[in-house]
Amino acid sequence: MADKAQLQADLRANHGHVPVMRARVTQLLAEAVTAAGEHAVIIDGTLGAGGHSEYFLTQFPLATVIGLDRDTHALGQARARLEKFGDRFVGLHCRFDQYLPVLEQTAAAGNQACQRYLDYGLTGALFDLGVSSMQLDQPERGFAYSIDAPLDMRMNDAEGLTAADILNTYSHGELAKVLKNYGDERFAGKIASAVIKEREREPFTTSQRFVELLYATIPAAARRTGGHPAKRSFQALRIEVNRELEAIEQVVPRIADALHPGGRAVFMAYQSLEDKIVKRIFADLTTSKTPPGLPVDLPEFAAKFSLVTRGAEKATEDEIAENPRSASVRVRAIEAKKVAQ
Ligand SMILES: C[S@@+](CC[C@H](N)C(=O)[O-])C[C@H]1O[C@@H](n2cnc3c(N)ncnc32)[C@H](O)[C@@H]1O
Repeated sequence: MADKAQLQADLRANHGHVPVMRARVTQLLAEAVTAAGEHAVIIDGTLGAGGHSEYFLTQFPLATVIGLDRDTHALGQARARLEKFGDRFVGLHCRFDQYLPVLEQTAAAGNQACQRYLDYGLTGALFDLGVSSMQLDQPERGFAYSIDAPLDMRMNDAEGLTAADILNTYSHGELAKVLKNYGDERFAGKIASAVIKEREREPFTTSQRFVELLYATIPAAARRTGGHPAKRSFQALRIEVNRELEAIEQVVPRIADALHPGGRAVFMAYQSLEDKIVKRIFADLTTSKTPPGLPVDLPEFAAKFSLVTRGAEKATEDEIAENPRSASVRVRAIEAKKVAQ
């Protein structure tokens, strides 16, 4: 009974979802975290509602977790949820690829968790990429195409262009490129032309008008396949607004470099553009740079990392039933090679 009540409380705190593949992700980090004992420091690069962090703090009672999020609303909720762990948890407001100066400042101000990172290095990291259920649940943020709301989509609502700004200011070529490259939208050019014509009449402010334009522009036959006609364009705008791919491109090598020997980093991607970046950078990090043609692998050129997962891991059917969001997840992990004794 108590377990059931706890599960209900967890679900409420996590906006109705169990954190995606939390047991498997924890298992992927376990060896490194256990070996580091009381010096273990984990970065949760995408804190969100704090579901994964809470699980780590519970499963690894000696570890410290540093949670990052660019969204102050998420950060506020997660901090309140994880307060019970005292100085084993700290939440930092930053883009995940720009965490180091914020972490250093917080350590200089006397924070123990951040100081532990500077003293002992990084043991484990998790990046559960993309938008959270909590953000989708807040209509005023403009992430959901099913609700008429301001076309915002900024994870950090204090900086950068909104989705409406992009629709109202980008050239035809820029708009078409965003929709094609980030949404794989077949009708990108046609949609861009319609947006430019429509914004001359009146600038875009809310989602409904853009959704209506998509319905009117995408041919009926194409609308019947490939899900909701707004899905691809909304994904494309969100990626552009938040410069999501650029942040991933930057953070993968940075976080790998921060790992101490034996430390591990796990990336969870929900669409192929994200996963391709992680896969490509992991391949590079785990390949020897010994010049071709030499008979032996030179130690100074040897790869400093090895793959922990074989290809990308997917969620099991049970996990998908528990949290439908996990259906599209691809999980990859690397380890910083241990120093030879
Ligand atoms: C899928 S949710 C994470 C959910 C979390 N694992 C949990 O268990 O509640 C992703 C979170 O990462 C944040 N985020 C996405 N990209 C980010 C970035 N580049 N820098 C910092 N935070 C980011 C989003 O604001 C969102 O809150």
